[in-house]
Amino acid sequence: MPQQAQCHFGRRSSAAPRGNHYRTLAESPWVFRETSPFGFGENPIAAAFVGARSEFIVPGVNGASGSIFHPQSAEAHAIAHLFTITLIICAVIFAVVLGLVVYSLVRFRGREGEADPEQIAGNKKVEIVWTIIPMIIVGVLFALTVQAMQVSDPPLETKPDLVVIGHQWWWEIRYPNTGIVTANEIHIPVGKQLSIRLDTADVLHEFWVPQLTRKMTTVPLLGNHVWMEARKSGVYEGVCSEFCGTQHAWMRFQVVAEPQEQYDAWVRNQQRKAPETATVAAARRGWRLFNDMTCVNCHAIQGTPARGTAGPDLTHLASRRTLGSVIVPNTPENLRRWLADPQQVKPGVKMPNFKLTDEQVSDLVEYLGSLK
Ligand code: CUA
Repeated sequence: MPQQAQCHFGRRSSAAPRGNHYRTLAESPWVFRETSPFGFGENPIAAAFVGARSEFIVPGVNGASGSIFHPQSAEAHAIAHLFTITLIICAVIFAVVLGLVVYSLVRFRGREGEADPEQIAGNKKVEIVWTIIPMIIVGVLFALTVQAMQVSDPPLETKPDLVVIGHQWWWEIRYPNTGIVTANEIHIPVGKQLSIRLDTADVLHEFWVPQLTRKMTTVPLLGNHVWMEARKSGVYEGVCSEFCGTQHAWMRFQVVAEPQEQYDAWVRNQQRKAPETATVAAARRGWRLFNDMTCVNCHAIQGTPARGTAGPDLTHLASRRTLGSVIVPNTPENLRRWLADPQQVKPGVKMPNFKLTDEQVSDLVEYLGSLK
């Protein structure tokens, strides 16, 4: 497996719990910032220009990348290309207009004692020119847009390879052909164009992988579709790009694009059911706790009686890269913090604080950590 697709479970994190709420993610010691989404590093001018919370910026978390300027599919490339051309055309117009304004201000500035300039009312030639030029520009942009739309939005596919369901605030992922159900992490084989059906369990969300797809809204009772393909293997950041409540900003997911053999291996592992009884004593206690508490009402673990659907399927939780829709890397330490108080890691999340004792948390971490 490539280094970036490795699971973080079992690694030690240096971050220490502080017992506080973090007002911004920048304050949070749990968030990994390994990549620079725009490719401008820590350039403060660029960051200020675009705005730290702008939708353009999809900060790479835990090794993923999300720059709209580095598209990795035909669809995303068409959109990025259109963006660049439009930006250049607008920059030229801006420079010409600003240049003429500055030139006029300097050259024709009224000086003391000078007579008023000649008063003109209308000039047919000039008016024709400044009507035709914008028409041509708009016409060119229209043609380019239609071209980009044809590439980024090919005809619908009714039989989807993947079904993605938006929930407040996480993504459920179903593979109809293999029966796999997972959350917040989409695995795909490199170089295959996949049809994705988009649904929602509650409100409007918007599915977007800046480097791989166009944006598409998930509308209740109306299945939308989007195509996704990755030309190169890697981990791509995905976001919800339509405001959907408290944790909209952290309704994220990652797309892991792998060579076919690795993808097949992932499929085989995901198809395994969880063992009914754990081998380690602490994990066994954790499993009993999971059953006795209300965990089973919301979460499913295939191969066990746990069948809840309100929260993410946990059958292979330990194999995932992140927790809480990409808010923190999936390490035992972070899982411990999550179980101790999910509201502290992700304020507003629908999972309540169960006020578990340290021992109960340890047992649950042991059990959930065994779900590879
Ligand atoms: Cu879901 Cu924003």
